[in-house]
Amino acid sequence: MMLLSVEGLSKTYPSGARQVPALKDVSLTLDRGRTLGLVGPSGSGKSTLARVLLQLVKPDAGSVVFRGTDLCALRGAELRAMRKHLQMVFQESLTAFNPRATVADAIGDPLRIHRIAGRRERPSHIAALLERVGLSPALALRSIHEISGGQRQRVAIARAIATGPDLIVLDEAVSALDVTVRSQILELLVSLQRDRGIAYLFISHDLAVVRAISHDIAVMDGGRIVEHGPSAEVTDNPKSDTGRALVAAVPRINYQAGGAR
Ligand SMILES: Nc1ncnc2c1ncn2[C@@H]1O[C@H](COP(=O)(O)OP(=O)(O)OP(=O)(O)O)[C@@H](O)[C@H]1O
Ligand SMILES: [Mg+2]
Repeated sequence: MMLLSVEGLSKTYPSGARQVPALKDVSLTLDRGRTLGLVGPSGSGKSTLARVLLQLVKPDAGSVVFRGTDLCALRGAELRAMRKHLQMVFQESLTAFNPRATVADAIGDPLRIHRIAGRRERPSHIAALLERVGLSPALALRSIHEISGGQRQRVAIARAIATGPDLIVLDEAVSALDVTVRSQILELLVSLQRDRGIAYLFISHDLAVVRAISHDIAVMDGGRIVEHGPSAEVTDNPKSDTGRALVAAVPRINYQAGGAR
């Protein structure tokens, strides 16, 4: 069932006297419970697409239909209400918080704003969310600035799932993590998708990471989607020059030397 349908999105940023085209006629769709990976070189427009989907930036043209509503037409309270269903995890989702904010503050915010749990029930909700993302409830009172990067991304995921969203946009959400922590977080995302039917738009410049989690992959370059298809097809037999270059850049691992694989 279709959850998200993006049609003809264009966005140009003014930069001094010049105009920088960041999105050119981008269209895509995403079904419930599925993962679309979005990959492309630096500056290809991936984060701009994420920002337009979340309506942090308004497009010059095009539409973003989510759960049957064109988000571009929503303003203020209507848009804030929609956020309940459309959440985000960025590379630095939580670092903008005030230095004294605790893990409980970060996860409690959406519970309060969307009236999911009152003051009394909030601690038990927060504890359950922390456990679901593999963290100890004892972490609730720690400052978000004194936990590790991997823990912080788990907290960002707990915050994102707190409202029971249908879609989470993840922009370079695991890019800053070491390989082990990264694969644990990818496993967490897959398990949450299985339990809750959440769809992901998973953005990364790294094709190997995108391939590990995505059902379908869209390749962006120069503000356009230059290739789009099932994950295995795009990675095994890329049709675009950009797709081929990204595949060539994935490090080849000598599995024989690695033993049991
Ligand atoms: N706020 C802005 N003002 C002006 N130009 C911008 C702005 N944000 C992005 N751009 C430009 O738009 C284009 C697309 O940028 P975007 O951040 O969407 O790319 P990206 O694919 O996310 O890159 P990366 O992999 O490095 O994160 C680039 O040319 C960038 O310089
Ligand atoms: Mg980006």
